[in-house]
Amino acid sequence: MTARRALRQAEPVRHSRILGLGAERGDQVVTNDDLAGPIDSSDEWIRQRTGIVTRRRAAGDVDVLDLAEAAARRALDAAGLTGADVDAVILSTITYFHQTPAAAAVLADRLGATPAAAYDISAACAGYAYGIGQADALVRSGAARNVLVIGAEKLSDVVDPTDRSISFLLGDGAGAAVVGPSDTPGIGPTVWGSDGSKAQAIRQTHSLAELAADGTLGMPTLRQDGPTVFKWASFQMAPVAAKAMAEAGVEPEDIQVFVPHQANMRIIDQLVKQLRLPDSVVVARDIAETGNTSAASIPLATDRLLAEGSARSGDLALQIGFGAGLVYAAQVVVLP
Ligand SMILES: CC(C)(COP(=O)(O)OP(=O)(O)OC[C@H]1O[C@@H](n2cnc3c(N)ncnc32)[C@H](O)[C@@H]1OP(=O)(O)O)[C@@H](O)C(=O)NCCC(=O)NCCS
Repeated sequence: MTARRALRQAEPVRHSRILGLGAERGDQVVTNDDLAGPIDSSDEWIRQRTGIVTRRRAAGDVDVLDLAEAAARRALDAAGLTGADVDAVILSTITYFHQTPAAAAVLADRLGATPAAAYDISAACAGYAYGIGQADALVRSGAARNVLVIGAEKLSDVVDPTDRSISFLLGDGAGAAVVGPSDTPGIGPTVWGSDGSKAQAIRQTHSLAELAADGTLGMPTLRQDGPTVFKWASFQMAPVAAKAMAEAGVEPEDIQVFVPHQANMRIIDQLVKQLRLPDSVVVARDIAETGNTSAASIPLATDRLLAEGSARSGDLALQIGFGAGLVYAAQVVVLP
């Protein structure tokens, strides 16, 4: 009997980090007054209840892949890499309207990353933080060397101008990060989870199967139970963010930057208060000008802080995404 060969496994690497970030916002500035009429609202109400002054939306001929490509190219440039250096592409979106093939495969090809592994994830506003968690695991396990993570949304495709529950919050954009090997720890443990018992809290009006059966329904749009989501995000997400700090072995005083999902300025304020973050922590408030861009919001907000100079390379940033599912993910990262 011949001895069975020992199975070889991928060589793990010790650490991973974000090597570069990139962002792309929709090029159109949409004011509250532009949207207030059909929902019987006002600029004052929207500012007070959400903190949104404008949101950015993309022109009709720009699709979610165009936004993703622009952000991804910037992230690769910032990392000093090209598409050919990428081993895996993870794209988080809820606004790519093909069940298959995955948007990530099409994007990988556009970027010259073929034959990189490529797949989409559906984790709504937690999608970027889910993607960073996966990329960190892939890099450290040795399954991939450089992983491109993109959160991209053209949410203007799923808004109903007469809906007062969520549509007026939404914007378009994409943010991307390249995650690769590192000599020092650059991504803390991801604290993530879900609560499908609240699946109806943020939902589509109908499924594509229902649309096929009744063509008069039109494209599905989004709805939410605002107060339910507000309470969940404000009070149940702070312990998740606190756990991400604890698992990374850091205290609030060690954090320089806080980048929560940009859902509502009052949720951001509540999280800052509950986490007892010191006044010295720079808090991302990109929602005021960009609106809620779901999976794109964390990298967009981070990119703005870096561009403005209020956050710097090497800073420790606590980030948390949360949204439809309900799903959530948080981790502490070193900014590139
Ligand atoms: C959507 C949201 C802004 C609504 O604000 P709210 O303070 O919870 O509003 P409520 O639904 O409790 O309604 C309060 C009042 O405002 C009114 N109102 C609701 N939506 C309104 C709108 N878009 N414009 C004007 N008035 C509105 C209601 O009719 C109600 O009036 P009443 O007091 O006379 O009955 C808020 O719930 C929210 O931001 N939720 C979380 C959003 C979120 O994070 N979503 C993304 C998921 S990650």
